[in-house]
Amino acid sequence: MGGGHKFSILAIAVAALLQYSAAQTTHYVGDDLGWLVPPGGPIAYQIWADAQTFTVGDILVFNFTDGEQDVAWVTKEAFKNCNSTDPISLKATSPANFTLNTTGEYYFISTKDRHCWLGQKLAINVTEYPGPSPSPTPRSGPVTYTVGDDLGWLVPPGGELFYAAWAYDKIFLVGDTLVFNFVNGSQDVAVVTKDNYKNCTNSTIEVYTTSPANITLTTIGEHYFTSTYERHCFLGQKLAINVTGKSIAPTPSGSIAVPPSSSVSYGPTPGGPSPPPVSSAPNVNGYFFTSLLIAVVAFFY
Ligand SMILES: *[C@@H]1O[C@H](CO)[C@@H](O)[C@H](O)[C@H]1NC(C)=O
Ligand SMILES: *[C@@H]1O[C@H](CO)[C@@H](O)[C@H](O)[C@H]1NC(C)=O
Ligand SMILES: *[C@@H]1O[C@H](CO)[C@@H](O)[C@H](O)[C@H]1NC(C)=O
Ligand SMILES: *[C@@H]1O[C@H](CO)[C@@H](O)[C@H](O)[C@H]1NC(C)=O
Ligand SMILES: *[C@@H]1O[C@H](CO)[C@@H](O)[C@H](O)[C@H]1NC(C)=O
Ligand SMILES: *[C@@H]1O[C@H](CO)[C@@H](O)[C@H](O)[C@H]1NC(C)=O
Ligand SMILES: *[C@@H]1O[C@H](CO)[C@@H](O)[C@H](O)[C@H]1NC(C)=O
Ligand SMILES: *[C@@H]1O[C@H](CO)[C@@H](O)[C@H](O)[C@H]1NC(C)=O
Ligand SMILES: *[C@@H]1O[C@H](CO)[C@@H](O)[C@H](O)[C@H]1NC(C)=O
Ligand SMILES: *[C@@H]1O[C@H](CO)[C@@H](O)[C@H](O)[C@H]1NC(C)=O
Repeated sequence: MGGGHKFSILAIAVAALLQYSAAQTTHYVGDDLGWLVPPGGPIAYQIWADAQTFTVGDILVFNFTDGEQDVAWVTKEAFKNCNSTDPISLKATSPANFTLNTTGEYYFISTKDRHCWLGQKLAINVTEYPGPSPSPTPRSGPVTYTVGDDLGWLVPPGGELFYAAWAYDKIFLVGDTLVFNFVNGSQDVAVVTKDNYKNCTNSTIEVYTTSPANITLTTIGEHYFTSTYERHCFLGQKLAINVTGKSIAPTPSGSIAVPPSSSVSYGPTPGGPSPPPVSSAPNVNGYFFTSLLIAVVAFFY
């Protein structure tokens, strides 16, 4: 492994440069929820972590109430057993910051009472390079998404993070269809505005009362869905998606595998072939990172 040394120098150089670059990300654990015993149990911080990409140089910020909460960096073994006996490090004042200096897995728990057992625990995986950015792959045609997959459309056990996590890694384009599967008579789908989505006010643009409700996305921009049933929205039955472009019309040769579903209707694309889907912001960092990496490699070799 003659290159190993050079490689670690490279990694350190990259990490050091990232300290000063826009690519360094500060992750607020749990976002607005902060660091506490999560209402949704252990799944809450898991869902949060799954929606993030942690790279070397990033900072984790735990925001909590001093005295009532704390955060311990522990081993995998201690994480599994909620063992707070001998943590790697313990921070008792908020905000507690951890700089992710190395790749690999990091484990955090609370040492208070039964907090860890109740779900106040976080496992993350730090990678060296920004993960594969959610760059839209060209598609042959529209996609049909089943909202919530097998769980369908209901008040999700994990709270509103559930549908956020479901939507997180998906690309929605004009022509795609959302299929909401729910129980007739005890659920429905309400199309709402952003305000009504945020505030859970019962004012709807359109309501679908029979399952499955197949909704074809016809406009670019944000779309919001919830329920007209009392408290369902507050309890997390809400979905926000962002339609970021138009799907590419199927090519006559049909060389790409995904066949357009016959049940999906979509309008003709005005003005011939549509432009490729709008790429999302993370790519900018990706390109930045790539050119940075090339510069560093050139420096060392
Ligand atoms: C940290 O938590 C406190 C109270 O829980 C809150 O007021 C504050 O806005 C939070 N800070 C951040 C950066 O989330
Ligand atoms: C907790 O960790 C300590 C120190 O690593 C160890 O001595 C102890 O046996 C562990 N306790 C349990 C219940 O695993
Ligand atoms: C922790 O990070 C936050 C956000 O970057 C920053 O505002 C705060 O000053 C940091 N605290 C410490 C102790 O470094
Ligand atoms: C990362 O490195 C900095 C500077 O050496 C150090 O202060 C910090 O504690 C390290 N973070 C972790 C999680 O080890
Ligand atoms: C962490 O990421 C590495 C590299 O991508 C992978 O090999 C490893 O299995 C991951 N660990 C977990 C717990 O996901
Ligand atoms: C929603 O709540 C915000 C403040 O939380 C308020 O400014 C806004 O007017 C509310 N919108 C509706 C439609 O009630
Ligand atoms: C809901 O009602 C519609 C129309 O009555 C029916 O076609 C559909 O099968 C029902 N769906 C479920 C899940 O019961
Ligand atoms: C809705 O979509 C599902 C899944 O693609 C399909 O089986 C069903 O026939 C569609 N129903 C309607 C009314 O289009
Ligand atoms: C919400 O509005 C719909 C129709 O506008 C109504 O049928 C439903 O009962 C309302 N729900 C609540 C909880 O007020
Ligand atoms: C939706 O996508 C557009 C274009 O990619 C972007 O400008 C906008 O900020 C996105 N909105 C949200 C809420 O992510």
